[in-house]
Amino acid sequence: MKKAYVHGYDHRENTRLQDQASTLVELLHSDTFYPAGSRILEAGCGVGAQTVTIARNSPHAIITSVDISEASLKEAKKRSTAAGLNNVRFEQADIFHLPYGQASFDHVFVCFVLEHLSDPTGALRALKHVLQTGGTITVIEGDHGSAYFHPDSEAAQKAIHCQVELQRRAGGNAMIGRELYPLLRRAGFSSIRVSPRMVYADSNSPELVEGFTKKTFTAMIEGVRESAVRAGLLEEHVFDKGIQDLYRTAEADGVFCYTFFRATAKRGDGRTTHSHHCRRR
Ligand SMILES: C[S@@+](CC[C@H](N)C(=O)[O-])C[C@H]1O[C@@H](n2cnc3c(N)ncnc32)[C@H](O)[C@@H]1O
Repeated sequence: MKKAYVHGYDHRENTRLQDQASTLVELLHSDTFYPAGSRILEAGCGVGAQTVTIARNSPHAIITSVDISEASLKEAKKRSTAAGLNNVRFEQADIFHLPYGQASFDHVFVCFVLEHLSDPTGALRALKHVLQTGGTITVIEGDHGSAYFHPDSEAAQKAIHCQVELQRRAGGNAMIGRELYPLLRRAGFSSIRVSPRMVYADSNSPELVEGFTKKTFTAMIEGVRESAVRAGLLEEHVFDKGIQDLYRTAEADGVFCYTFFRATAKRGDGRTTHSHHCRRR
């Protein structure tokens, strides 16, 4: 049986992830560069929507992109070949059982993955293990609690909440962006810096309205219609009104806001992190 809601597995969802990646490249990745020769692990690369950007930004870094899904990896390989990338290799792997030894990588990159995991701290610890001391992790996540817009709409907020609730029932957390700081702390990282990246879309930026408000955010919420109605979370007509109202925010006088969170942190030598914790308690 198909799971209630899983990102990245069907065609429509893949297209959405591609739209999302191309619209947000500047906002999320303008400062994602890795030195020549450094070993990068991209965990949960999905269909490779971010892989192309990070590989192009750092053409001399050696990138290993892994995902648990063979189907997504197949797609990612196709994209990578089409983009002419020659610094990425794809491997099937589970973040919780990585086939790499301690300190195998200089940097880890993980984007839109923790939100789907029931144990994000465990995932971060597993990623820390393969990171060398002094190496960095970059984590990017959204937070659906950060969506606000004009005209405001109760139905739209209810439809968004359906997505949050379905993701929660599937073991994930669609509002994880605000938790990156505590999660990285808990996982034992040091030098944690969180940078909120706000998308603000009005008709001065038609590409954001089209690419983000409509094709990314509203398309994502629209995608859970059936599951939400089937689960009895919302009546059909209210859900449909919510979607209509979200599209309304993309009209000439509409405004849509959403915040992503981009965190970076270091794998310390252990001692620093420990004494830091002790002082704080
Ligand atoms: C929403 S997609 C994000 C893909 C990509 N990072 C992006 O930003 O477009 C989440 C991905 O995480 C993968 N994933 C989920 N759990 C995983 C695990 N335990 N190990 C490896 N990959 C996992 C899924 O297969 C899916 O491809």
